[in-house]
Amino acid sequence: MRVIVTGGAGFIGSALVRHLVLEKGYDVLNIDALTYAGNRASLHTVEDKPNYRFLKSNICDREAMEQAVREFQPDRIMHLAAESHVDRSITGAADFIETNVIGTFTLLETARGYWSTLDSTQKDGFRFLHVSTDEVYGSLGGDGLFTEETPYDPSSPYSASKASSDHLAKAWERTYGLPIVVSNCSNNYGPYHFPEKLIPLTILNALAGERLPVYGKGENVRDWLYVEDHARALDLIAERGRVGETYNVGGRNERRNIDVVRRICEVLDRLAPANRPREELIEFVTDRPGHDARYAIDAAKLENELGWRAQEDFDSGIEKTVAWYLGNEWWWQPLRERYAGQRLGLLKTAKG
Ligand SMILES: NC(=O)c1ccc[n+]([C@@H]2O[C@H](COP(=O)([O-])OP(=O)(O)OC[C@H]3O[C@@H](n4cnc5c(N)ncnc54)[C@H](O)[C@@H]3O)[C@@H](O)[C@H]2O)c1
Repeated sequence: MRVIVTGGAGFIGSALVRHLVLEKGYDVLNIDALTYAGNRASLHTVEDKPNYRFLKSNICDREAMEQAVREFQPDRIMHLAAESHVDRSITGAADFIETNVIGTFTLLETARGYWSTLDSTQKDGFRFLHVSTDEVYGSLGGDGLFTEETPYDPSSPYSASKASSDHLAKAWERTYGLPIVVSNCSNNYGPYHFPEKLIPLTILNALAGERLPVYGKGENVRDWLYVEDHARALDLIAERGRVGETYNVGGRNERRNIDVVRRICEVLDRLAPANRPREELIEFVTDRPGHDARYAIDAAKLENELGWRAQEDFDSGIEKTVAWYLGNEWWWQPLRERYAGQRLGLLKTAKG
């Protein structure tokens, strides 16, 4: 099995690459532009493996994509490369439109050109997995779950750009017959997560005794999935998912942000005791504009049709995650030095 993974130096992409190279023994070509979010250190366990290759390239570069696909001859393309941070998309949306929309378009066209050269057996076996987010569905009220039938209703520049890319993927399947499957996943957490996102930021700030910013009142609810469960789901969807279908991926682990932060404090206080409870570091800050109230995924289709189950619940996953950050300062310390934790995504007032 020969698989191209785009965005394989990112958080989820690197978990997927590790899974495919180490657990599945597939030949993997990782294509990644190494933006601020890409980090080859997350791939240290696969770098010297003969079934792993890395190409530093931008998915918007059509010529480079065509050459990579022509030379590597993939059976699958698993497309994860994206700009992924909502706050950054509010501060500057251009990169999100470029990578998430134009980049996906470029890859779809590249895949279509390559696929048309395959013989009929290879054509049938080929898969393009487009990896997306539950944020395309907008926000839920107090109850209900996102299903694959939920209408799209994105709120942020990030989710709007991902929604656009999902529509392109669906259209390329319907119009050109390219064998595409789409997955929409809830919030991930786990090892190798860039420290601007809620969970790693909280762990590292708490460890350093720094304030723990919580947006608004911390009432926003997210449905958390351990990243390695997502990687296994993606592999399964690429292997057995029905062409043209969408599969929602979620851990059935809804938590309010404030409860996530408090839980991290508890785990850290136990694993790395400090002289005062870390909960005292919590500070409520101005909310994100357009902040979706609640996301929650109904993963029944993936569970019933493909037999996937999340192996970690939030308590076991967060324990593993905190322990990982405690044991892997070599990975996060250089990122902490480069990324100062500045607040992004606030709108300027009339006074500026
Ligand atoms: N993080 C989550 O909770 C979550 C949840 C659901 C879906 N997703 C989706 O999963 C995918 C991966 O998310 P992530 O959290 O690992 O993101 P990430 O930001 O950690 O990683 C993105 C990777 O893509 C690379 N990249 C960015 N622009 C590129 C370009 N133009 N060309 C080539 N490479 C480029 C970056 O260098 C980085 O390695 C994204 O498509 C995201 O929308 C993420």
